[in-house]
Amino acid sequence: MIQNRFYAKTRYDRDIRPSAEREVLFYQSFWTLTANPEVLAAPDLIELAAKYGRSPAQMFFRYLDATRHSVSDRHVVKDHMQQDLSIFEFRLSPEECESLGALLLRSP
Ligand SMILES: NC(=O)c1ccc[n+]([C@@H]2O[C@H](COP(=O)([O-])OP(=O)(O)OC[C@H]3O[C@@H](n4cnc5c(N)ncnc54)[C@H](OP(=O)(O)O)[C@@H]3O)[C@@H](O)[C@H]2O)c1
Repeated sequence: MIQNRFYAKTRYDRDIRPSAEREVLFYQSFWTLTANPEVLAAPDLIELAAKYGRSPAQMFFRYLDATRHSVSDRHVVKDHMQQDLSIFEFRLSPEECESLGALLLRSP
């Protein structure tokens, strides 16, 4: 398990995260929501979230789980906990995962 600060903007661990898809290991993120407001506000992610009737945070978590990221999550608000647990109710297609992966690579 690799646990790392997840900060798409700084490109800090860009080379490490994709390796989790290839290797038998898990990447565990923290600061996933806190450090990535640009990702959560990206039109492509918002559009895909709307397609599934989910929030941007749920869509981001769904993508990360589908690509072998283990998200270390926290919440005070009960609705957040319920939303985060319900990401397992839907699945993304390989093409949708690919487009969200491309979004992370484009993140400024
Ligand atoms: N090992 C380390 O060095 C390290 C470092 C940092 C953090 N951590 C741990 O990692 C875990 C995650 O903490 P983090 O700060 O990194 O978490 P985070 O994912 O960056 O942000 C958590 C925040 O996101 C909000 N949230 C959660 N689900 C949401 C949703 N569905 N929609 C909108 N907002 C949502 C929460 O709001 P509410 O609270 O209002 O519900 C909370 O304010 C914690 O257990 C923390 O202790 C470990």
